[in-house]
Amino acid sequence: MTDLDISPRSSAVAFIGGGNMARSLIGGLIARGQAPEHIRVAEPVDALRSGLEADFGVRTFAQATDACDGADLWLLAVKPQVMRSVCGDLAALAQAQQPLVISVAAGITSGQLQRWLGDADGRLPVVRAMPNTPALLGVGITGLFASTAVDDARRTRATGLLEAVGPAVWIDDEAQMDAVTAVSGSGPAYVFLLAEAMQDAGITQGLSPQAARALVQQTLLGAATMLTQLEEPAPVLRQRVTSPGGTTQAAVESFEAGGFRELVSRAIEAATVRGRELSAAND
Ligand SMILES: NC(=O)c1ccc[n+]([C@@H]2O[C@H](COP(=O)([O-])OP(=O)(O)OC[C@H]3O[C@@H](n4cnc5c(N)ncnc54)[C@H](OP(=O)(O)O)[C@@H]3O)[C@@H](O)[C@H]2O)c1
Repeated sequence: MTDLDISPRSSAVAFIGGGNMARSLIGGLIARGQAPEHIRVAEPVDALRSGLEADFGVRTFAQATDACDGADLWLLAVKPQVMRSVCGDLAALAQAQQPLVISVAAGITSGQLQRWLGDADGRLPVVRAMPNTPALLGVGITGLFASTAVDDARRTRATGLLEAVGPAVWIDDEAQMDAVTAVSGSGPAYVFLLAEAMQDAGITQGLSPQAARALVQQTLLGAATMLTQLEEPAPVLRQRVTSPGGTTQAAVESFEAGGFRELVSRAIEAATVRGRELSAAND
């Protein structure tokens, strides 16, 4: 993990939007030793503001400009559909203060963010981040893309911030952020779908719903733990539990015969294409 260096003594981080993703990141930063007095949050909902103050001791503001003024890292965590107007409100301040801007909004490009923040020449340092929902429990993964204006020091700050909720992977080509969204952003839902299907199949084979649920949950956790903690890649781990002529082989052959790999490939392609369409629709 990168050293947590998101806010030198003289600077502050401003979160715009104090919803689920901001709360996860703030919780992760504070758990890793970030001083709450360096964290500001702009959030229009009174109850969310007081919750953030009570839980984390951070300073909250109703207006984004108040939170951002003087902060040299802005973390935009509002829904994609309101991003344009949020950026419009912040454009003059962004041009005057040239902060590092990180956006976690799905499908909004770095060029759109720069333009909406009043930067016609691509000089504003903007990082696009795509975390996923396991970030809520500190076990997310984030894909990161930096515009050309982001120098190494700012990359390190962005990495330190997003690593508060799990590892981060830098992507060189922004077009690939749609693939990141399709693989890891939407990916938890594919695993939940697999869990549902396995539970239903277990019940069909005579298990009680409670037993099927417990067996599936721990199996997914165990397999994910093996994938992340052992050195062997997925195909080797799979072959190791597949004895010739055994039960696993019977199941794997059924998956392959049913076109499982092609189906996964088509699903991820569909999500990638949808991400691209959503970016275009926001322009
Ligand atoms: N949740 C995830 O797992 C996940 C994963 C990857 C990326 N993302 C991205 O993260 C972003 C936030 O998602 P989320 O799940 O945290 O959404 P969320 O819970 O709805 O949080 C967004 C918050 O921003 C507030 N907001 C709206 N306009 C604002 C403004 N002008 N100034 C300050 N705050 C404002 C919203 O208030 P109102 O409710 O009053 O509008 C809401 O409380 C989205 O762009 C999403 O694409 C989320």
